[in-house]
Amino acid sequence: MVALASDHAGFDLKNEIGRYLDELHMPYKDLGPATALRTDYPKWGYLAAKAVAGGECDRGIVICGTGVGMSLSANKVKGIRCVVCTDCYTAMLSRQHNNANMLALGARVVGVDLAKLIVRMWLEAEFEGGGRHQQRVDMIMKIEAGTIDFL
Ligand code: RB5
Repeated sequence: MVALASDHAGFDLKNEIGRYLDELHMPYKDLGPATALRTDYPKWGYLAAKAVAGGECDRGIVICGTGVGMSLSANKVKGIRCVVCTDCYTAMLSRQHNNANMLALGARVVGVDLAKLIVRMWLEAEFEGGGRHQQRVDMIMKIEAGTIDFL
């Protein structure tokens, strides 16, 4: 299940991505907003991140003007690794190497067709766990938990 959310700037693209997820037969939960009225991205980034961190959804896609505000907000929730992607290569590698569990898109940065391609690459790519990538992601999570000291 994919958690989907946006602010006003990402509203139209959220609807496009929702329709695309339908085409892909990928179940998703639209967490809002329900209209394109001006709203604050931290709320929606947080709600989607909580859905992923809590296990209700296994991935999240959040959309604002640049993707930056959404990713910053989502990454404040424990267990979230949210990446802003403007290209397919980064989207794929963010899954394969970083095990990103949320994707942030900038509706004012990428066009609809590129956004769809990014979404598909990101959803299809699998984490290459078990080796060095797992160790590095574990290190990130230890930084979050405050249980690592690189000094
Ligand atoms: C809204 O104008 C804009 O600031 C927001 O969508 C986002 O781009 C913030 O990072």
